[in-house]
Amino acid sequence: MRNYDPADPEVHMHSLLNAVVLPRPIAWVGSRTVDGVDNVAPHSYFTISSLNPPIVQFTSIGTKDTLRNVRQTREFTVSLANRELMAQINISSAPVPPQVSEFDITGLTRRSSVKVDAPSVAESPVSIECQLFDTMEFAGGDVVVFGEVVWVRVDEDCLIDGYPDVELLAPLSRLGGPFWGDVGTISTMTRPTAEEAMHTGGT
Ligand SMILES: Cc1cc2nc3c(=O)[nH]c(=O)nc-3n(C[C@H](O)[C@H](O)[C@H](O)COP(=O)(O)O)c2cc1C
Repeated sequence: MRNYDPADPEVHMHSLLNAVVLPRPIAWVGSRTVDGVDNVAPHSYFTISSLNPPIVQFTSIGTKDTLRNVRQTREFTVSLANRELMAQINISSAPVPPQVSEFDITGLTRRSSVKVDAPSVAESPVSIECQLFDTMEFAGGDVVVFGEVVWVRVDEDCLIDGYPDVELLAPLSRLGGPFWGDVGTISTMTRPTAEEAMHTGGT
């Protein structure tokens, strides 16, 4: 085993954690400047934080346009990043100035939201609308953004029996280094009851 100490200046924690905490779903975060410039940028430090109330979170590594917009307008969207949109997702991660809209440089279509004044990506099969719930800033300047989910839209084409189907959604994930992933093999297993779990005999 090799051991890594975060206190060791030779250890690059960013690369190390990205290479072991994976696959990471990608939040394609849509926001709007106070002057009305539409922004969209991928964030793979993304997960569900709470169900009651429904809250999702993404982390801004330092202060970026997305974080500035969300702090000012208190609203954002998350569009699902899928295989078909991989090239545009990557282009939208370029550090362009705040007055340049990633929708314009990628050719993506803005979709108006139902509950918030921030756009989502029309080409994406899922959009989640969020109102800023809170932020948490760490000593190094990284900020976790918590958004309360106020609306969710899913393309009818991606539903089976009224629920989103993973193969139809074809979500992309972020891996370590320059690597990205697909869903891969899907298995089915239901959660055991306590009774069942205690009688499996450690198999
Ligand atoms: C797949 C992918 C995932 C990313 N995840 C994050 C992330 O979780 N946090 C972050 O700060 N930057 C992340 N980035 C980099 C941002 O997208 C990039 O810094 C972008 O320019 C930020 O845009 P903005 O300044 O318009 O907010 C990611 C980039 C890619 C391609």
